[in-house]
Amino acid sequence: MKWYSRGVLVVSLLGSAAVGLVVTNLGIAQGGVTLRVACGTVGSQQALCKSAADRWAAKTGNKVDVVPNVASSNERLALFQQQLSAGSSDVDVYQIENIWPGLLADYFVDLKEYVPEATIKEFFPSMIEADTVEGKLVDLPWYGDAGLLYYRKDLLEKYGFKKPPSTWAQLTSMATKIQQGERKDNSNFWGYVWQGAAYEGLTCDALEWIYSYGGGTIVDNKGNVTINNKNAAAALDMAAKWVGTISPKGVTTYSEEESRGVWQAGNAAFMRNWPYAFPLGNGDTSPIKGKFDVTVLPKGPGASGKNAATFGGHSLAVNRFSKNAKAAADLVVYMTSAEVQKERAIVGGYNPSRPVVYKDPEVLKASPFLGRLYKVFANAVVRPTTVTATKYPRVSEAFWNASNSVLTGKSNGAAALVALEDELKRIKGAKW
Ligand code: GLC
Repeated sequence: MKWYSRGVLVVSLLGSAAVGLVVTNLGIAQGGVTLRVACGTVGSQQALCKSAADRWAAKTGNKVDVVPNVASSNERLALFQQQLSAGSSDVDVYQIENIWPGLLADYFVDLKEYVPEATIKEFFPSMIEADTVEGKLVDLPWYGDAGLLYYRKDLLEKYGFKKPPSTWAQLTSMATKIQQGERKDNSNFWGYVWQGAAYEGLTCDALEWIYSYGGGTIVDNKGNVTINNKNAAAALDMAAKWVGTISPKGVTTYSEEESRGVWQAGNAAFMRNWPYAFPLGNGDTSPIKGKFDVTVLPKGPGASGKNAATFGGHSLAVNRFSKNAKAAADLVVYMTSAEVQKERAIVGGYNPSRPVVYKDPEVLKASPFLGRLYKVFANAVVRPTTVTATKYPRVSEAFWNASNSVLTGKSNGAAALVALEDELKRIKGAKW
């Protein structure tokens, strides 16, 4: 008998009389442990993490502390690397990005040693594959992300637009018109808000502009630095023109939550953001409740123009230095279970990593875009993390800095990309 089936046996033998004996999800009898989990902080992350962790704790007789965290993806990565490289056992479970397993694999347990194969098979195989490094299952996928265009249905109608923009040029002119009109009553109103600060989020936004212009993915699959091309330069120049016209000047310091702040207050016609902003915008106290929808981000111009959504997502991993790795793995299995993912999809807009949750009628009712935009998620653009491997953080930093310098007018698309190409080649050296 495998160790994980033992718990089931214990439960069925003892039934409800099993007071005092704690049986966890993985079938490990283990109570009285305190785990620390580092969850994200954007949107409803902390609250949802805490409610699920508390349920697991109550079920298993353990305790979970959700530790505070930094919002910015790259700052979180740096912090986690610092803690883990020092062998710290402070945090048992880490919420990591699905682009980090290659960077952090050494610091996490192989979840295949703790999680039954049948459970692993319940996740999207592609996600499991992405989270497997040299045969080691570094984490369990929690949710997928893709960049979306949020638009105000009521304002489109008010200004005579029948449908959301399909090209960036259309978005620009629609945003301009709506902004001009709305400014008469609301001096804080803007056409378009997005993520322009110098951080990982800008890498995601700028990759979408550039890819949608047919300008590639910074570094191609073979490892060639492809960023210095005229479509990429034109895409960055386009975004720079939004700053101070249809987007606030401060957008060059915005991350996800700053854009959502403007949008959700009813002060923007369009927003680029991840799905998490959908249920929040439809919250009972939200001024834009029921007034907006989401669609695929617009295309760049001409024949090379296409829709683009950067692929993102998060997973849960167990610290290899944890003193309670078994209980931690159990918590991870519970947090990524269909039950918890259903709640997270409905309340938080998080795209499940288990196909079965997409079939749930309540999920599809609360987040209809999950079904409708399935193709967007399936065809999302992947950042060049695999090919640049451990050098990805430096590649991304160089890219977001170059993009931010164009947005803030310190450079222009063409000049910034000549310099960026040099820098990326230097980072690459003889090979990635
Ligand atoms: C979201 C995405 C993640 C991305 C980050 C950038 O959390 O899921 O992949 O790196 O935003 O801010």
